[in-house]
Amino acid sequence: MEKVDPWGSEAIDDYQGLFEDFGIEPFEKFRKHFQDNRYVRRGIIFGHRDFDRIFKSMNEKKPFAMMTGLMPSGKFHFGHKMVADQIIWYQSLGAEIFVCAADVESWLMRDVTFEQARDIAINEYLANYVALGLNPKKIKFWFQSDYRNEYYRLRDKASKRVTFNEMKAIYGELTPGKIVSVLAQIADILHPQLPEFGGPRPVVVPVGADQDPHLRLTRDAASRLNAEREMGGRDFECVPPSSTYHKFMRGLQGGKMSSSDPKSYIALSESPKDAVNKIMSAKTGGRATVDEQREKGGVPEDCTIYDLFLYHLVDDDKELEKIYMGCKKGGRICGECKANCSDMVSKFLHEHQKRLEKAKGIVKGFSKS
Ligand code: TRP
Ligand code: SF4
Repeated sequence: MEKVDPWGSEAIDDYQGLFEDFGIEPFEKFRKHFQDNRYVRRGIIFGHRDFDRIFKSMNEKKPFAMMTGLMPSGKFHFGHKMVADQIIWYQSLGAEIFVCAADVESWLMRDVTFEQARDIAINEYLANYVALGLNPKKIKFWFQSDYRNEYYRLRDKASKRVTFNEMKAIYGELTPGKIVSVLAQIADILHPQLPEFGGPRPVVVPVGADQDPHLRLTRDAASRLNAEREMGGRDFECVPPSSTYHKFMRGLQGGKMSSSDPKSYIALSESPKDAVNKIMSAKTGGRATVDEQREKGGVPEDCTIYDLFLYHLVDDDKELEKIYMGCKKGGRICGECKANCSDMVSKFLHEHQKRLEKAKGIVKGFSKS
């Protein structure tokens, strides 16, 4: 059985196993309805729980919310951009947007100070979200360490709606820090449905597959809360949260893309020159020699440069297919391909960084929850 550790350093490589072992449903059946979304179209968003509920709200034009969180550590990179694009997409579909800066989690699990976390959450994450198109006037954004009383009350009450054995079964070895992070995340996900925050309505949580343990536990807590209906002396009724799961881009050297390893990612604030250097030394799916590549073709599935095209740089499916087939058939050679990728990344960074400077001015006011 595939183990899923939200704080681990291993990349998940068996997405199929997640369907069988944990009951994540394939996203496939929704694919045709969301052809405008590159990540859906290309199967990068591959799984869900209870997305039917969100789909129904969308179709019936009923209110629904999107909630997700960011762990502020390090630079905002292309891996994070995928989440940002999804948040922006949900905003365009009319979802109410809740975004949590998980500074308690990054302090407990990654030793990031609250001051650093605040700076990173605002000037890296939020500023990039806005530069990518998020409307900051229409979001609820908070820090786990600095929020409203009702949220903390819910977090504490949630501790009684999950058992130690259940936590051990889901997370393996526990530490006090993990337990607090997990309870905070339950409150992050459920609090939009407290009466003070808008009451019960469908909430979708788009996350990487590594976050599924939190969703399983939160959904259990939600059904118990529902059974009890006694939050804060008032009824607390909540719709169990829905979720979607995306696959991760690999790091540029293969392996996991990680904020703690600058060689594994390109930051959106990075100079185009440094980005090009990273592209030039990135792991490809190419052959040892040009002759061999011409003869056997490359393996785009094993190529981190291809990941960049697939996730971000090439929105047109026909154009992507040309790259894919060119690589497979040996018409495309890694040197040229990397040069092509470098041009696209440089152009993107150049344009994006102009917007980013402006966005930093806009998000200044968010440093208080
Ligand atoms: N644990 C998430 C991460 O590691 C961050 C997070 C905190 C989160 N609260 C959340 C994600 C609520 C989704 C929903 O990145
Ligand atoms: Fe990757 Fe391009 Fe080389 Fe194919 S040709 S392996 S896509 S770098």
